[in-house]
Amino acid sequence: MAPSRPAERGQPPERWGSGLGFVLAAAGSAVGLGNLWGFAYRASQGGGAAFVVLYVVIVLAVCLPVLVAEMVLGRSTGHAPLLAPVTAAGRRWAPLGWLFLAAAVGILSYYAVLMGWTGRSLLHALLEPLPADMAAAKDYFTAISSGGDAVLGHLLSLALTGVVVAAGVRGGIERLSRWGMPLLFLLLAGLAIWAAFLPQAREGYATFLLRWDASKLADPATIRNAFTQAFFSIGTGIGAILAYAAYLDRRSPIPREAASVVGMDTAVGLMAGCITFPVVASFGLADVVGSSTVGTLFIALPTGLASLGATGRLVAVLFFTLAYIAAITSSVSLLEVPVSSLMDRLGWSRGRAVWLCVTLIALLGLPSALDVAVLERMDAIFGGVLLILGGLLLAVLLGWGSSQRFRSDLEHSGTSGSLVAALLWALRWVSPVAISLGLVVSITDLVRNWGG
Ligand code: TRP
Repeated sequence: MAPSRPAERGQPPERWGSGLGFVLAAAGSAVGLGNLWGFAYRASQGGGAAFVVLYVVIVLAVCLPVLVAEMVLGRSTGHAPLLAPVTAAGRRWAPLGWLFLAAAVGILSYYAVLMGWTGRSLLHALLEPLPADMAAAKDYFTAISSGGDAVLGHLLSLALTGVVVAAGVRGGIERLSRWGMPLLFLLLAGLAIWAAFLPQAREGYATFLLRWDASKLADPATIRNAFTQAFFSIGTGIGAILAYAAYLDRRSPIPREAASVVGMDTAVGLMAGCITFPVVASFGLADVVGSSTVGTLFIALPTGLASLGATGRLVAVLFFTLAYIAAITSSVSLLEVPVSSLMDRLGWSRGRAVWLCVTLIALLGLPSALDVAVLERMDAIFGGVLLILGGLLLAVLLGWGSSQRFRSDLEHSGTSGSLVAALLWALRWVSPVAISLGLVVSITDLVRNWGG
């Protein structure tokens, strides 16, 4: 029943080399700066263990069904994010395609700026001694996060993302993920073991995971943080995984693949916490992190490591290498949303679509590169509200509007009837209700804090 991919003006449709290739690419999209920086940053904003618990519940009960829905929408239509909703449910759903496009472009415009900071920090750790104290670190951070350095890092990171995406699904994105993801896990495990032997490692874990305060479960800021972090980290809601799933084989077991992606992403978030929090506790950086802003990781980490001399520098180099790999396997998925949409809608070549999108996104990201306050607002709007709204609409589209498509796509690829029924039930009743609540709390909290 599912319509096949339209004849692509003479070119055979692109496909993943293997199921593993798709899973690694999708995990690459999920695992990113959000895990390394966002998770620690949001967990340290006062939620403690309550934040972690809420986060895990939201990921499993809300994001996982939405992720499956997003994959089904991509595979069953064979279309890019702009056209997939229309193909599945008619013209009334066209605005969702545009929402996907706007959100992906908006997120990438500031994500590339964060990547630029990461790249700059890596270079710094390679070439110069780490900043010796907090004051030096703040000056250093101000220098990398504003002006020419920030713009250059932003442009280079986007260009690099463009090179990978222009090389195609199999030759670019899949190839990058195949070596990048294993390397990332290796570095992460190595650093987590190193951090476990720091003098105050135990205190670090305790502030992060063991500080339990049940009242935080109902705290609007914690709820908003948990929702935003869950959707951003899994990367579902704006069509990035939809675009990847359009290149997927009809027989691949989507629920299992989605579960692997979610599992890897959560593991990386927790492991990253097991690196940053022991460092924070062991080097007396708790105050800086407590008054957390986007810059925390970039300020606190190098300063903490400076006191370890050469070892510290090596650890900083490994950490920022890891972060840059995580970032680029994510940014390619964001760029694939507008690129595949232009190819699908206008029949453009991949190269032409990539360079037009990169140019536009580079311009759109300039204000964020020049001013951290703009970056934070962009994140709140695109990475917070629009992303979660996209997730809500996806749940409604596949849970209610085209539930037959959801059912038949999964059953044809061998998913058991009872699992399909359970997923559909979650998509109909759990996700929309929970996301609506989360969205209301998030918007209220956001509006209340907008001025300050
Ligand atoms: N998940 C990535 C991170 O944690 C970022 C990302 C990639 C993303 N693709 C996405 C976020 C799609 C939202 C939507 O850094």
